[in-house]
Amino acid sequence: MSYALTDRHSRTHRSLRISIVDKCDLRCTYCMPEDQHFLKREELMTREEIATIARLFVERYGVNKIRLTGGEPLVRPDAADIVRDMAALPVKLGLTTNALTLHKHLDALIDAGLKSINISLDTFDAERFKTIARRDGIDTVHANILLALQRGLRVKLNMVVMRGVNDDEILRFVELTRDHLVHVRFIEFMPFAGNHWGRERVYTYSEMLGHIGSVYSFEKLNDDPHSTAKAYRVPTWPGTFAVISTVTEPFCGDCDRMRLTAEGKMRNCLFAREETDLLSALRRGEDIAPLIEANVLAKHAMLGGLPQFKPEKEEEVLHDLSARPMVSIGG
Ligand code: 5AD
Ligand code: SF4
Repeated sequence: MSYALTDRHSRTHRSLRISIVDKCDLRCTYCMPEDQHFLKREELMTREEIATIARLFVERYGVNKIRLTGGEPLVRPDAADIVRDMAALPVKLGLTTNALTLHKHLDALIDAGLKSINISLDTFDAERFKTIARRDGIDTVHANILLALQRGLRVKLNMVVMRGVNDDEILRFVELTRDHLVHVRFIEFMPFAGNHWGRERVYTYSEMLGHIGSVYSFEKLNDDPHSTAKAYRVPTWPGTFAVISTVTEPFCGDCDRMRLTAEGKMRNCLFAREETDLLSALRRGEDIAPLIEANVLAKHAMLGGLPQFKPEKEEEVLHDLSARPMVSIGG
């Protein structure tokens, strides 16, 4: 018997993101501060602990969607084994990766049961890639995206749009949906600890649609009820694109997401400032169910309790209010 995890705003939670490692082989400026310290191996959840916690969420609370994230999940040697464990559960499974080493893992991941993958891609320009990711790798990432498509994976591409950095590449990303069966997602630049966020660097959702609409006519698609993305397509093109408007138009109203960090701390929101240490309790042999229920119940109505960004309100400051950098939350 399962029963639903419901918060004090009557939202039911059925989606869980699990970060399996906080390290990354890229160091994107919007995600990781220069001086980021990483967890020690013994601080990370083991494969078995991840399976135990995930099973509890699925069997007891009816979670039906799991996404594995990092840092970069493929940095972890047992990533494919963890995928196999998750694929054995009755859930829709996804993995978010920067695709830098995907060619080395693709066979094992597909064999383990992975069908859907989110790849971070912010630019087509090698110099820009180096500036954003703080290392080379663009050619490998591009080749690996094509490889994933060829192998029949459902591929979503995440582009974090930053004004003055890569906003001039939006159309090129839209054109990918003409050439490939790919789902491009334009994400507003969000504030996290140490990522030099500034309101002037947010290229807004309405700007994105205006820009795209000035060149291509597109149509709205139906969104899943709990989707964070608003989806569109250019008629007759095989792919789709979507906009994730966390900053200017948050979609917290029907959010059904929960998160687990690589060291087993549960967060009820990307922007949460409170966390619940499930792993320590599990290692002490305690029942973690009451901790999970209390964590969900306490969820804020919006943005983890942060004030909403209003483009017209000059004085408002949102930056650095998130307690963690994104790399250690899990994208
Ligand atoms: N703003 C928006 N999205 C971000 N991500 C990481 N940092 C940010 C940020 N500051 C998301 C991207 C990336 C994934 C790993 O996390 O979608 O692809
Ligand atoms: Fe790594 Fe992804 Fe963060 Fe870039 S966005 S530093 S690739 S986890």
